[in-house]
Amino acid sequence: MTLTLAQMAVDVLQTADGQAKTDLSRKYAKAWRDFRAGEGPNIEIGTAAPPMHPKRPDKPELLSPRDVPRRRPGSDAGRIALLHAVAHIELNAVDLHWDIIARFGHVPMPMGFYDDWVKCAEEESRHFNLVCGCLEDLGSFYGALPAHAGMWRAAEDTAEDLLGRLAVVPMVLEARGLDVTPGMINVFRSAKLPKAIEALEIIYAEEVGHVAYGSKWFHFLCGRDNIDPKDAFHDLVRRYFHGALKPPFNEEKRAEAGIPPDFYWPLTEALEKENP
Ligand SMILES: [Fe+2]
Ligand SMILES: [Fe+2]
Repeated sequence: MTLTLAQMAVDVLQTADGQAKTDLSRKYAKAWRDFRAGEGPNIEIGTAAPPMHPKRPDKPELLSPRDVPRRRPGSDAGRIALLHAVAHIELNAVDLHWDIIARFGHVPMPMGFYDDWVKCAEEESRHFNLVCGCLEDLGSFYGALPAHAGMWRAAEDTAEDLLGRLAVVPMVLEARGLDVTPGMINVFRSAKLPKAIEALEIIYAEEVGHVAYGSKWFHFLCGRDNIDPKDAFHDLVRRYFHGALKPPFNEEKRAEAGIPPDFYWPLTEALEKENP
């Protein structure tokens, strides 16, 4: 029996181990690509009941962000901590992209919507594998350090609101990745660690696409419902995202991903203070 895409998504979400989760994610993404290319069995979208929290490995221990120990950025320990944090974000992202597929199956969307999120899930799986490889080269592994709890919060908060999910996850959280990744690449340039540089450069390039898919489907839904995208974005981010957006922004990459400055600047603390 062929699984539906929604069942595949739930299967990934229910897999705890990082390697097993990303293996399954890549396998299902390939099955979907084969089907869409006319080279594999038909896969229905279907509907499913995704868990509120995806399964995760016993390690890393999940701590509140303020309890995660800070390490000196210029040290080996600091670089390992940075890569460990990236691996955690990537594993979370694998689940986020499958979750949007599983959770909103009742909202009719064009096939391209599924193509895009399956592609993202496949890329995040590869990002996790790449970063795990870098950690191993430095004598560490994913699970060796504690990681941020609360990274699933955005998914929980927007579990019933597809437009809110698109606003907060790709258009705020993943867009934030575009702002901070060049700085991270510099950390590994200074340390002359080419494998980490290469991994982060792949991540940086592919994440532009993830933000762009968010913006594309956000605008699609706004257009279908005849609502103003900029006003809707501001309302949804204020409702579901906890805190202000933090400049500096990577305006160039954000523009490339289809997010104009008047979407994010009004949501910064600085502007609220300047223009009370
Ligand atoms: Fe990623
Ligand atoms: Fe991403």
